Amino acid sequence: MEKGTFYITTPIYYPSDKLHIGHTYCTVATDTIARYKRLCGYDVMFLTGTDEHGQKIEEKAKAAGVTPQEFVDNIVTGKGGIKDLWKLMNISNDRFIRTTDDYHVKAVQRIFKKMYDNGDIYKGAYKGMYCTPCESFWTESQLVDGKCPDCGREVHYAEEEAYFFRLSKYAKPVQELLESGEFLEPASRVNEMINNFIKPGLEDLCVSRTSFNWGIPVDFDPGHVVYVWVDALFNYCTAIGFMNDKYDDYDKYWPADVHIVGKEIVRFHSIIWPAMLMSMGMPLPKKVYGHGWLVIDGGKMSKSKGNVVDPYMLADMFGVDALRFFLLRTFPFGSDGNFSNELLISTINTDLANDLGNLVSRTTAMAVKYFGGTLPTEREYDALDDELVSMAKALREKYAFQMDKFQLHLALDEIFKVIQRANKYIDETAPWVLAKDEAKKARLATVLYNLLETLRICLVLLAPFIPDSCAKAFEQIGADETCTTWDSAETFGVLPATVTVHKGETLFPRVDMAKTLEELEKMNKPKGPVFPPVEPNVTIDDFAKCDMRVCKVLSCEAVKKSDKLLKFMLDDGSGTPRQILSGIHKFYEPEQLVGKTVVAILNLPNRKMMGQDSCGMLLSAVHEENGQEQLHLLMLDDSIPAGFRLC
Ligand code: MSP
Repeated sequence: MEKGTFYITTPIYYPSDKLHIGHTYCTVATDTIARYKRLCGYDVMFLTGTDEHGQKIEEKAKAAGVTPQEFVDNIVTGKGGIKDLWKLMNISNDRFIRTTDDYHVKAVQRIFKKMYDNGDIYKGAYKGMYCTPCESFWTESQLVDGKCPDCGREVHYAEEEAYFFRLSKYAKPVQELLESGEFLEPASRVNEMINNFIKPGLEDLCVSRTSFNWGIPVDFDPGHVVYVWVDALFNYCTAIGFMNDKYDDYDKYWPADVHIVGKEIVRFHSIIWPAMLMSMGMPLPKKVYGHGWLVIDGGKMSKSKGNVVDPYMLADMFGVDALRFFLLRTFPFGSDGNFSNELLISTINTDLANDLGNLVSRTTAMAVKYFGGTLPTEREYDALDDELVSMAKALREKYAFQMDKFQLHLALDEIFKVIQRANKYIDETAPWVLAKDEAKKARLATVLYNLLETLRICLVLLAPFIPDSCAKAFEQIGADETCTTWDSAETFGVLPATVTVHKGETLFPRVDMAKTLEELEKMNKPKGPVFPPVEPNVTIDDFAKCDMRVCKVLSCEAVKKSDKLLKFMLDDGSGTPRQILSGIHKFYEPEQLVGKTVVAILNLPNRKMMGQDSCGMLLSAVHEENGQEQLHLLMLDDSIPAGFRLC
């Protein structure tokens, strides 16, 4: 029975936010393949996890007022976090790696040192335009009007020490690997990689950073942290014990049989990853499979568009198996798919409620009604049976052919052709007519047995997709564990002749399309704004240091060549007009503000903006939601005189 090992992985997810339906799609697909391989008799290692380092996480943690570790702990292990989501979705991973796990951190340091020692990592200089206050390098094309795209300030050319990986050295072997046709699938992705990345020439890759701290330190050069993709890719090896003592499965499972990844990270997995493994002298994974994306109205799902689909809500509303099934039945695995609630509901109603659910409930109900639940032994064959029986017998092979190519939707197609044929067989044989004639009992038993057997085979093959529902259905059709194995799906006639069925709960209730769409719309209505937590306490003395005064706007005009800046001349009560520049042109036209009573901090150091002095800062009420900044300039009652101090 044992067929050898099968090592399969998902990408490790960034815990920078809650995961959405796109991430769930990737993990559910990988889980289904892992379950399929176990069913076939493989010794499977299924790995998933989280990719926890990097600047973005560091920044998000800072904004939330917690440490990066606290931040990721909450998203990974907190209530409703990533681990909870995989539990809910019935994900059968054997292992879960977090890149902040100590064993992984130490192993990556050893790996980095090894590539350094063998000469494939060397120290060089990172060059580009640098914004000092933002501590960021930008390429020319990222600059806005020649200035920092984040803060609008001047940038200057700078070089920074950094480590580089000799990716260029591996261009040829990587190209050969890609062209071998086996390594990267679907085939369309191979051309994409060769044309977009290999042909223009592979440059060495910068593999260390000094501009932030939240990463694995380069242990032989303090101040440098390992580039997050080097850290992340090696998870596939460290999680099974490579260069660490935590696990001891590396020899057993490496090289991986397949890395399942989304299309935008194929480049890292099919170019950088094999090159680094070659440098380490390690065997290469057998396959990288790049699946498509779930999109909404043809576009990307994103927080800023407010169209992110929450898997928790859908699983709660429709059931975990219905959601798993929908994801894999509807979208060809290699291409993009357009997600919609209508499609989800119609798939549940057509395939699960009508075709599969009805077949189970009609068949068991008839066996109970006509035979008290237990079939008699007598049989009577009819030529009407042939097509159904031969389709059921041939199903396992057709299904395996598609599953082995990760064509999950086509494997389901094969199963549903048989289920639809079985429903037609009920209409053709009309058991309710046979039941009226005592002499047709044997024929009736044959029809019901054929239906139960067909169902059994379909359910064995559906189990990797919808495991819980299949377990319930097996119980209903009277299939014990000897009748649910991979081997048993090859043979027609495995259920005992006198099988006993049990009527059970409806497996997939029909969903009322109009009502449910309305409910979903209500639930998705944007809720009120979410404000950041209150900053840590300051003392009253700290506060008193900020000299905030009431000012009257004497004049206001747009600064030439700037989209953002307005120049104010203010009466601050001192008798000498004060000039302040403020980046609020997006929100106000200058003429709206002349004569207004505003508030400014006067004792900030003067700052040059677009070559002009700004002597202080106007106060505004601001909020950022979904990537959109909202701003209201603070305006006071005009009866308050200029120069009054705020305290
Ligand atoms: N941390 C990296 C992966 C490192 S693997 C060594 C990463 N993380 S991610 O959280 O941004 O994405 C993880 C996976 O989710 C990717 O394969 C990505 O393609 C997938 N998806 C994210 N959004 C998706 C959709 N809308 N649809 C389908 N999959 C998508 O990249």
